[in-house]
Amino acid sequence: MTITAPRIGAALDRVEAPLKVTGAALYPNDVSYPGLAHAAPVRATIAAGRVTAIDTAEARAAEGVIAVVTALDAPRLRRGPVTLLGISPPAPLQDDRILHYGQYVAVVVADTAEQARHAASLVAVEYAEDVPMLDIGDPRAEVEDDPWGMDVDRGDLEAGLAEADVVIDETYATPDNTNNPLGLMSTVAVWHGDGSLTVHDATQWPHGVRMSLAETFGVPESRIRVLAPYVGGGFGAGLRAWQHVILAVLAARETGRPVKLVLTRPEMFTGVGYRPESIQRIRIGATRDGRLTALAHEAIAPVALEDDNFEAVSHTSARAYACPNVMTRDRQVRLNIPCPGSMRAPTEAQGNFALESAMDELAVDLGIDPLDLRLRNFAGTDPLTGLPWSSNALRECFARGAELFGWSRRTPEPGSMRDGHWRVGYGLAGASYPPYQVPCQARASLQHDGSAFVRSAATDIGTGTYTVMTQLAAELLGLDVARVRFDLGDTDMPYSPQAGGSGLTGALGNAVRSACRQLLQAFLDVVADDPESPLRGLTLDEVEAGGGGIHRAGDPGSGEAYTAILARHDLAELSADGRSTPPTPDTTAWAGAFGARFVEVRVDADLGVIRVARVVSVIDGGRVLNAKTATSQIVGGTVGGIGQALFEETVTDEGTGRIANATFGDYLIPVNADVPDMEVVFVGGPDTATPLGTKGVGEIGLVGIAAAVANAVHHATGRRLRSLPLTLDALL
Ligand code: MOS
Repeated sequence: MTITAPRIGAALDRVEAPLKVTGAALYPNDVSYPGLAHAAPVRATIAAGRVTAIDTAEARAAEGVIAVVTALDAPRLRRGPVTLLGISPPAPLQDDRILHYGQYVAVVVADTAEQARHAASLVAVEYAEDVPMLDIGDPRAEVEDDPWGMDVDRGDLEAGLAEADVVIDETYATPDNTNNPLGLMSTVAVWHGDGSLTVHDATQWPHGVRMSLAETFGVPESRIRVLAPYVGGGFGAGLRAWQHVILAVLAARETGRPVKLVLTRPEMFTGVGYRPESIQRIRIGATRDGRLTALAHEAIAPVALEDDNFEAVSHTSARAYACPNVMTRDRQVRLNIPCPGSMRAPTEAQGNFALESAMDELAVDLGIDPLDLRLRNFAGTDPLTGLPWSSNALRECFARGAELFGWSRRTPEPGSMRDGHWRVGYGLAGASYPPYQVPCQARASLQHDGSAFVRSAATDIGTGTYTVMTQLAAELLGLDVARVRFDLGDTDMPYSPQAGGSGLTGALGNAVRSACRQLLQAFLDVVADDPESPLRGLTLDEVEAGGGGIHRAGDPGSGEAYTAILARHDLAELSADGRSTPPTPDTTAWAGAFGARFVEVRVDADLGVIRVARVVSVIDGGRVLNAKTATSQIVGGTVGGIGQALFEETVTDEGTGRIANATFGDYLIPVNADVPDMEVVFVGGPDTATPLGTKGVGEIGLVGIAAAVANAVHHATGRRLRSLPLTLDALL
């Protein structure tokens, strides 16, 4: 038998694809149990005030209804713990106060989902209504300065501005955007006779859900199992154990039945976070020759009254350019709104739009090519620490992108490029995404038939985790990918952090790497004194894995197969645990991902219709584990960026706080016709900060697109739009 290990980086198809296309992959809302009941929440229709009465009589009398639990009679629950994602959302149904529109005020349980939904509509809630704070400028709202202690002051801003020949001082605005994964968030909860709990949940973090439920319901974590083998997308909406998860578990406890709760699309707009709006003032000073002398980025964003959301919108600007005098400021304003949450590239999506638009404005004022302006201010070392980057191929991103895109064909004058009735514009933006890795564990086993089983409680939210971890383990163990099974999404497996912050591939990949190396060590330990083994007495550094076994480094003929070792020692399998910890480089600055985005837009000269015609993305993503899934990440992120640029805006009714466009009919997202041909190229090499050298390519794909589109629209039309989304009415 010839066994060929796949190259890391090869464009392997998704290993779970057959299960998905045949419907065999069980998503949380596919799960059923005998006696399954269904829950439907009742949501507040005001944004501020109190519940004065809830009449459940009609709902209780409706067909199939098993129970109705309301904010006025629900059992007391504890708030979940502080985790690495911050505080948990407040437990639902705990008092009569209404803090935002869509807040849960009751949950109905019935035999079928339809019965539950119908009965929920029969619950009559009376309110004493207050005037809600919905506007970021509301004078009554509490404003928090530097809520995360991340404001930056470097050098002397005023001196830098005074020294400048040209100063840009503009304000940019981005609206609320809603994550909208296709898969509706769903939970199935089952309490067992022994008091233990099983939960199937569309989460990005099974262990996070387990921690939260343990605290909320006062049950030891060891008595709770959370499963999420497949998740229908997340984009951040599945990071937290949101209140509907608790409602499902509560409903199951109150009824003694397994309970399923599937949010509706409108409920997804108020219950699982969203990218909060921002108002951002940018000041940039530069010399005539385009050298930055000062950069100030001040951002305001809203947050809920009694929940938190980390969104340091301005922070990345402190690291973006070599500029001696820098100030960043973040403020958050507490409003009667559903709590925002991470949405793909949280903070960078908004902050980059403002910064890279302002850089374009500066380039225009100076009469310098926007590409040259970026290169002249390239940060060759980390501006925050002065240390050399652990890796940084941003200049290569720009150079390669310019060549692939044909940037040199751009004539600088706005409105100077036309194709019939289309005004043509070329725009670009630089992009970065910070590094993130938290501790993670994995376990690897080699079985008597020569196959490997590797697992960790991580999730695959569509990014390719199953696939890249299979590939990685196959290479590290010297096996064909067909002989490796990688499994995830179960808290009975070793601990994993969330799929989020573009950090899972690094955290999990390094843990899988560690587990595979420990497994090789376990085999070496078994044969350490084995006179029959050609590997006797060898250390890990002296061997390599390949061909279904272990051999002396550089000498594939001098080893033996795993199966031979197991058989000779009468072992059914060998297993080993691995773990990864965050890198702590002290001589380099841990860099994260970089990118250059080049966009061609076409703007109808009469109607103002904006079309994105081409996108070229060159990304420094560190070591790429799978060319296909990594490219898919950038393509998907780019589509999200086009949505942010041209379509997406969650509209809140000013009087009631109701989300006015909480359906796919009203909330615009890009469809195929809005998405052009796009080219994605990776440059740079493995990052030096971690053993695996990956950087994370989940979120960098979105960053920079909105600015590049806006800059291209300016180039096409001479009109500078500083508020997203860019719509034709703004051009007329
Ligand atoms: Mo991502 S917004 O951390 O899922």
